[in-house]
Amino acid sequence: MHGVPLLDSSAIDPPPASAPVRDLRRVPIHPDHWYPLAWSSEVRRGKALGVQFAGDPIVLVRTESGTIFALEDRCAHRQVPLHAGVVEGEFIRCGYHGWAYDCTGRCVDVPYLGRERLPNGVRAYPCHEAHGLIFVFPGDVALAKERPLPALPSAEDKAYKTRRFGREVKCHYSFMHENLMDMNHQFLHRRQMGQMRARSLGRRRGEDWVEVDYTFAH
Ligand code: FES
Repeated sequence: MHGVPLLDSSAIDPPPASAPVRDLRRVPIHPDHWYPLAWSSEVRRGKALGVQFAGDPIVLVRTESGTIFALEDRCAHRQVPLHAGVVEGEFIRCGYHGWAYDCTGRCVDVPYLGRERLPNGVRAYPCHEAHGLIFVFPGDVALAKERPLPALPSAEDKAYKTRRFGREVKCHYSFMHENLMDMNHQFLHRRQMGQMRARSLGRRRGEDWVEVDYTFAH
């Protein structure tokens, strides 16, 4: 999706008069939720992948047994990105001096030190795989269990066609949300989709969510 999105003001109710006015473009992303940071297929068994959440480097590791975990992508020794290292069994080993970390971020081996003198480890993030995506919880770890993963029931439902989009788009995230809610921007895609006309069927909103139904006709 490219271009400047237009908000379909007919599709979304204005906030109640009593709601505090906030500049949506200045609202930072909220870390206390689960975020998909990679497709499952991008992290193969025995491999690591460097990703980012709001600029913070995170390494996703799939161990040789298939377990997935997420750590700060910065070795505790000399800050080298761990994704450049090697996965060994259930650990990831930094590619510089060989320090090894487990799924909790604990340093479990330094090749030139005894096991009784192991240094500090790195931050570990709650990590969960579902619907072909790898989700990470970048915020307060204590909240991860009580915050549900985003429900994506249509991804497994044959009645729906799931469209996957994983390209980086350089804009504030709220622009992307608006763009995907605003089906009247089909004009932009006229070369790929022809003269498809979107018609809003209705909308629903809760305290922190909004949904819009559309139908399309040629
Ligand atoms: S920088 Fe990672 S082991 Fe030294």
